[in-house]
Amino acid sequence: MSRAHPIAIDGHTRVYGILGHPVRHSLSPAMHNAAFAALGTNAVYVAFPVAPERLGAALDGLAAAEVAGLNLTVPHKTAALAHLARCSEAARAIGAVNALRLEPEGWAGANTDGQGFLLSLERDLDWAPAGRRVLLLGAGGSARAIGYTLLRAGVAWLGLANRTPARAESLAADLAAHAGGTPVVPMGLEAAAGRAPDLLVNTTTVGMGDDRAPLALEPVGVREAVVDIIYAPPRTPLLAEAERLGLRTANGLGMLLYQGVAAFAFWTGVEPPAGAMQAALEAGLAGR
Ligand code: ATR
Repeated sequence: MSRAHPIAIDGHTRVYGILGHPVRHSLSPAMHNAAFAALGTNAVYVAFPVAPERLGAALDGLAAAEVAGLNLTVPHKTAALAHLARCSEAARAIGAVNALRLEPEGWAGANTDGQGFLLSLERDLDWAPAGRRVLLLGAGGSARAIGYTLLRAGVAWLGLANRTPARAESLAADLAAHAGGTPVVPMGLEAAAGRAPDLLVNTTTVGMGDDRAPLALEPVGVREAVVDIIYAPPRTPLLAEAERLGLRTANGLGMLLYQGVAAFAFWTGVEPPAGAMQAALEAGLAGR
């Protein structure tokens, strides 16, 4: 991949970036710089490695230097909530922020992970959650963001299946506060059998490094589609099994792309060119 930045950097260049630890592997700089280049915006997006104990100092310093917008990744998404001037209702409810915008009073926080997931469902699968049954595998931060977003989007039933059932129970209790009476049902992975959801979503890390699926898919009786939020490898054993069963599938590249699209719009008020961003993501992944 070319390292040349097509923007002529000058005294007016606006700076954006991502804070993480580690962060050098991030695909976000390639994705957002492609969007700035396609739009001809005088802006640049860089990766800032920030140790957990330096997060407050980094956010204060970057605000003082008028950095315009930030993404946050592991391990900062929850800790950053304590450093915000204001925060979206979704980010507060999810308990995590992944996008910050500099405003006169300080950092404004949003969570675009759930939005990214919804946009991916809509644009990659042409699938709408209202009135449908969805089973999530996992009970970590990704399940929290996706579960909250699906409840707000009007699912009729949300199942949470996790290796450690107590974590699913705890997440279900938290999400129930935003469910408006919609059933949120925690369970162990083996209890997923026979649930017959319209959509199954894997948010666990199983299938990322190992050649395994988090559970046997066939007994679950999924009716329509399976999404795995893993994007490397692009086709996990779970997705391969879903294809074999004739289900529609999507991997996590769409969620990564559209959380970036939503963050870009949050920072700039401009809808970015998703095609240029997707091409940059794919080139970045191919170069790994
Ligand atoms: P994230 O914030 O990305 O969602 P996380 O909080 O580390 O990540 O959550 C990882 C999820 O993957 C959890 O649901 C975890 O299950 P446990 O709560 O039982 O730990 C799940 N997970 C990780 N390794 C797993 C494995 N080998 N088998 C089944 N589930 C696994």
